[in-house]
Amino acid sequence: MHFLMRSNTKQFLFWSKHLYRTCTSRTLASEAKEKIAYSEMMQRRQQQATRSIVVQVQSENSFPELYNYCASFGEILSAHHYRIQQEEEQHYILLEFGNAQEASAAITASAYNDELSSVPAHSPFLWFRATSGKRALKAAAKSIKATLAVVNGTTMLDSNALTDLLCAAPNLDKQILYLHQHTQLNDLGVRLRFLAALQVQQAVSGMFPNANAQPFGSSVNGFGRMGCDLDLILRFDREVVGATTVQQRNQESRLVFHTKENLTNGRSQTQRQMESIGDMLHLFLPGVCHVRRILQARVPIIKYHHEHLNLEVDLSMSNLTGFYMSELLYMFGELDERVRPLTFSIRRWAQACGLTNPSPGRWITNFSLTCLVIYFLQQLKHPILPIINSMMKSATSDDIRLTEDGINCSFSRDFERIGFRCRNTSQLSELLLQFFEFYSQFDFHNRAISLNEGRAIAKPDHSALYIVNPLEQVLNVSKNVSLEECERLRIEVRNAAWVLESEVENPSQPESEGAQLAWGILHLFKSNEKSIIRPNMFFKPRMVDVSQLFDSEDADSPTTSVEFK
Ligand code: CTP
Ligand code: MG
Repeated sequence: MHFLMRSNTKQFLFWSKHLYRTCTSRTLASEAKEKIAYSEMMQRRQQQATRSIVVQVQSENSFPELYNYCASFGEILSAHHYRIQQEEEQHYILLEFGNAQEASAAITASAYNDELSSVPAHSPFLWFRATSGKRALKAAAKSIKATLAVVNGTTMLDSNALTDLLCAAPNLDKQILYLHQHTQLNDLGVRLRFLAALQVQQAVSGMFPNANAQPFGSSVNGFGRMGCDLDLILRFDREVVGATTVQQRNQESRLVFHTKENLTNGRSQTQRQMESIGDMLHLFLPGVCHVRRILQARVPIIKYHHEHLNLEVDLSMSNLTGFYMSELLYMFGELDERVRPLTFSIRRWAQACGLTNPSPGRWITNFSLTCLVIYFLQQLKHPILPIINSMMKSATSDDIRLTEDGINCSFSRDFERIGFRCRNTSQLSELLLQFFEFYSQFDFHNRAISLNEGRAIAKPDHSALYIVNPLEQVLNVSKNVSLEECERLRIEVRNAAWVLESEVENPSQPESEGAQLAWGILHLFKSNEKSIIRPNMFFKPRMVDVSQLFDSEDADSPTTSVEFK
């Protein structure tokens, strides 16, 4: 079905009233929505990317002409417009065809620009030659029935509009829901991220037919907000999809490929391979620019910007635990509808009071914050989330996953088999307040947080904040957090509990005439300069040991230093 949908606050309020089954009605949130398995979601999205192309156009008005032209390659299921503000405004339309062959036919039929001296390269990123005058455009517009599913589909709600929306919410619980719904990564954002992954995969597939580029992190775990970076892992094995057929062939075939032997150890081999892949992306892939190699980190990555997607990408070729961790986070988000809205409010609060920071450093990350939320929900008297050990115990042979280093990432992927029943009917606002109260009292000095056991354990070392990495239990997820930043976290959670207490007691929108006053969670998002006791040195460029920025075993710690602003 094609329909025109523009982001619009009123429209959102209408739909959210009618469509969203909220927890405020005191239904059990964990039972409200059908849960989709991670592998199924990933597979659907990957397939969707294979039947999609992105075409640069003059403006959204080019759609009828583009549609007419591309319809000759196959059925167009949907079309989504977005724009990117660079020096000039750039417009793009994502077209989704009926199947991958039709998208491929459109790509194969595309031409190269003779005026440019670039190396011809295939990718799903194309541009549309504008033709004909206004008359032809009008005729094209008349002749098609289809419309864009979305216009300006990646434009974020600006902070004033968001404030207005939250001010107009009827109660605190709705404020938390609206914040989530209006800032989470939308369908088009996810589609574009899977296309970025497909572009990398297709670029190397001639030489590495088993290559599989998969998004992970906030782009797929359901905790991503609009504009979030893309974490991408490029794997050369096909462990997850079709593992059995590959294994069977490996055992049965009498013809065996010659391959290059690894000449050095695994880590330096990966670093050298990544250097080459980085060069290849930089030199040949349309849209890829500002390529940076960060190969000394515990997990070596290549960072780049994609100019046709306005997207920052972190590409890795190892670290499968990070990949499987995304699956765990996704499952936690699916298990109970309150988890994601709650986490969004907490991340926003942390951002507003400067606890998180877009550049890596000694501050808590969004991922660590999410772990704090999950632990809080596990340790409640009536838990909202299961502990990871019980998910591991209910794993079957289908759930077995081992990383390249033999780390066991097996846990049940089946929501039913986990057998967790939630009896907690607390509303979002209550949980938010309880979160702040809980961490106001938490003994960060002596205790470490274990999501595996759902309890605090004795701290294994002197890190200021210790969250056991659930899949690599010798590591600390928040090893990078300094003592000062941990202290600030303690102060800020106390302030937030204090601010929120009175709001939870009066959870409805205050009566006011004329202009709306900020109320409810908006009080949490005011940056509170007084409570920030960040020493001045934190704002100066300084030398940081990279090993501090990533959780690491001592033996594995890289020693290189880099400068951070
Ligand atoms: N990860 C991990 N251990 C860490 C850091 C990250 O397992 N110490 C994994 C998590 O699955 C995380 C993913 O790597 O989701 C990507 O990390 P990062 O980009 O830091 O976090 P995101 O969840 O993507 O959040 P953001 O939106 O801030 O990027
Ligand atoms: Mg990320």
